[in-house]
Amino acid sequence: MKPLNFYHLTDLHYYANEVIGSYGEKYELKDMLDQKCMDKSGAIIDAAFRDVCEDKETDIVLISGDLTFDGEVQSHDALIEKLYALKEKGKRVFITFATHDFYMHARKYTDEGETELPKYTRAQLREKYADFGYNEAIAEHKNSYSYCVQLSDDVRLLALNDDGDFDKFCGFYNDLLFWIKDQIEAAHEAGCEIFAMTHHPILEPSPVYPLFSHKAMLGGYEFTGPYLANAGLEYIFVGHTHIHDINSLTTDKGNTLYQVNTAALTAYPLAYRKIEFSDKGMDVKTVQVTEIDADTDGMSVLDYSKKHFTYMIELIFDSLENDFDKFCLLAQGFSVDGEKLRKVESLLHKFGKMVNGLTFKKLCGFFGCGKYVDSSIADDKIVKFLCSAIVNMYSGNEVYSPDTPEYKAIIPVCQKLGKVIKIKDHSGNRVDIAKLVAGIICDDGINDIEAFLPAKCK
Ligand SMILES: [Fe+2]
Ligand SMILES: [Fe+2]
Repeated sequence: MKPLNFYHLTDLHYYANEVIGSYGEKYELKDMLDQKCMDKSGAIIDAAFRDVCEDKETDIVLISGDLTFDGEVQSHDALIEKLYALKEKGKRVFITFATHDFYMHARKYTDEGETELPKYTRAQLREKYADFGYNEAIAEHKNSYSYCVQLSDDVRLLALNDDGDFDKFCGFYNDLLFWIKDQIEAAHEAGCEIFAMTHHPILEPSPVYPLFSHKAMLGGYEFTGPYLANAGLEYIFVGHTHIHDINSLTTDKGNTLYQVNTAALTAYPLAYRKIEFSDKGMDVKTVQVTEIDADTDGMSVLDYSKKHFTYMIELIFDSLENDFDKFCLLAQGFSVDGEKLRKVESLLHKFGKMVNGLTFKKLCGFFGCGKYVDSSIADDKIVKFLCSAIVNMYSGNEVYSPDTPEYKAIIPVCQKLGKVIKIKDHSGNRVDIAKLVAGIICDDGINDIEAFLPAKCK
């Protein structure tokens, strides 16, 4: 097979404010309470597209859904213009859309309040984006708006739309699963390699993810992952979680499926992927946006986006104690149901108050683990550590390895906590708290930023 280069971008969440014209306190609050840099999204996308255009050796660009902020027609129209500009520079762009492209509350924000903006239906999106996948399709699954394209003489792409019922189930219905299997078989019979992209993950990007947003995984992922692997699929590119991660599963039959989950382009770490696909496997690298044409308060755009994200996480802990309405608003951004949280408001409020006052010394001392606390971190706030661990997790750079003082202090506490508190996952299985926390703060699996993912020996 001739090596093939391509880019994977996802979750652009473009808010075309230059056309929409939102302004005022409500708009600033909306921007501030979001992980994504909503107000700078256009400039970040322009910078990424500019860098992609400068790369003359790669002409294929995959974008796996959540193209717009909340589905505003203005954002779609402006993005389509940008995609046509890429096309004019010789790039072939392939998209899928996802719930943020047609199912959310598209809004304009002004001092007077919020006004609803029009959205396109899925059928309209299929037509609007026809030149970015559908018109090149060699097969199309019309019910789901999924399609298959020939990327090169010997490589095909399955662009899978996992909208499901848009709400309780985002995944593949049986007819789509059968169609996928047929497409994989047809590709192999034609002597082609085939890989896929979809929006939702089939493997958790962090062990904590299915616990707090099980619904945000691809519906039926426990079945679908092994099904796809056994059907002969070796690679799938996903988004949605906004977490930069690479994971894999191996089935009883010995088939391995790698999942490359790419972070949201317009949120820290402003990352996308460049991949070289050859007979040997996929060489996956991370590219970051480093310079945009917009005011970033005198900081580099990376520092700006990190500060934007960190501020939001810090606000979660602060609002837990001081402003529960704001806390619920923020929690929704992480696919957590705000109404469910209200049922345990007083408990969460007490928890927030307690957590905000904790240092490593206090926490570990309380659990009789004081001897594990190094003096260099004794007075550090636990909240600061948690914020840093969360930001690290999203950027695929979980730095608290077993030799760090933070790991040495926090894991014994979690082991003791696990003896007192019993947490169960969605299937009712007991969760090992120490193992869970270790998996969040330190990723000992595949390197999430740069990795070589070997192909099955044929
Ligand atoms: Fe998203
Ligand atoms: Fe999403």
